Amino acid sequence: MAVEGLDTVAEVSEKGGVGKTSVTAGLIAVAAEQGLRVGGVDLDPRSTLTDELGVSEPKLSVNDIYYVDREKKPRDPAEIARDVLVRAGKEWPSNVFVLPCVREFGNRETDPATGMEFRLKRALWGLRDLVDVVFLDVPPRPGGKIGGSALLATRKVLIPSTLLNDGWLGATEAIKSIEHYNIPGGLNEELEVAGVVRNLVPRDGEYREIHRYWDGRLQETFGAQVLPTVIKNYAVRETCRTARAPITSAPGREAKLLTAAYREVLFHTLPHLKEGRS
Ligand SMILES: Nc1ncnc2c1ncn2[C@@H]1O[C@H](COP(=O)(O)OP(=O)(O)OP(=O)(O)O)[C@@H](O)[C@H]1O
Ligand SMILES: [Mg+2]
Repeated sequence: MAVEGLDTVAEVSEKGGVGKTSVTAGLIAVAAEQGLRVGGVDLDPRSTLTDELGVSEPKLSVNDIYYVDREKKPRDPAEIARDVLVRAGKEWPSNVFVLPCVREFGNRETDPATGMEFRLKRALWGLRDLVDVVFLDVPPRPGGKIGGSALLATRKVLIPSTLLNDGWLGATEAIKSIEHYNIPGGLNEELEVAGVVRNLVPRDGEYREIHRYWDGRLQETFGAQVLPTVIKNYAVRETCRTARAPITSAPGREAKLLTAAYREVLFHTLPHLKEGRS
């Protein structure tokens, strides 16, 4: 069972640079516009999402949720998560929260601690009265413990893909990993691929034969799982990362188009959020 009473969406691909963090940040921004209490969960030791959400040098991090000191009595991850959760930075709306990441979290990938992969799920359960929806930014490492913990904790997965070899490969490998979890009798039977999201799609003048080819391969391999929405390549996306600000507050036409695309992806993934917070 996924966490009851909390919507959970993980952005997953086993290749880097396809837009996992960008889609996560975009979805957080549009979900916040719906008046929801939104959490960003940064599981990438490079802390890109943490930075973009305007949090630096957090006192506590996801590392405190996962790490177990064998000399001490273990604490409930549900309780720790409530201490770790912080408000996003000043550019973000006040209904956006973060479980920030730090570099040391990378050590957990090889940590032999018993049951560590289950701690995130319990942690999110502990946040169910503080947030309505969480988005998990998952690092691209294939089959690792951190990625595994996300696939145990989340109900939905979105797979961002570029129209390039890497995009297709990252999506194909991610689906293989996911199938280990959601087979009948598996560790997370409710886990569901909400779709493959085409991201960094070149604009008209930049769209080449090679992009058409990989778009075709995505359709062929994933069929109806490929979402109708495409997220195009707009420089304002990088501006938001640099400014540590949500796309919804960026000026200009490109920002509006990107916001609309993220909104479509959000409503496709979690249709009930159209109504906003009840
Ligand atoms: N729609 C877009 N338009 C323009 N640039 C984008 C778009 N989406 C992502 N980018 C840029 O592409 C780069 C890679 O995106 P991002 O960091 O989101 O990928 P990632 O899959 O999270 O990468 P990693 O695996 O390294 O964490 C970033 O510089 C980001 O700003
Ligand atoms: Mg990333």
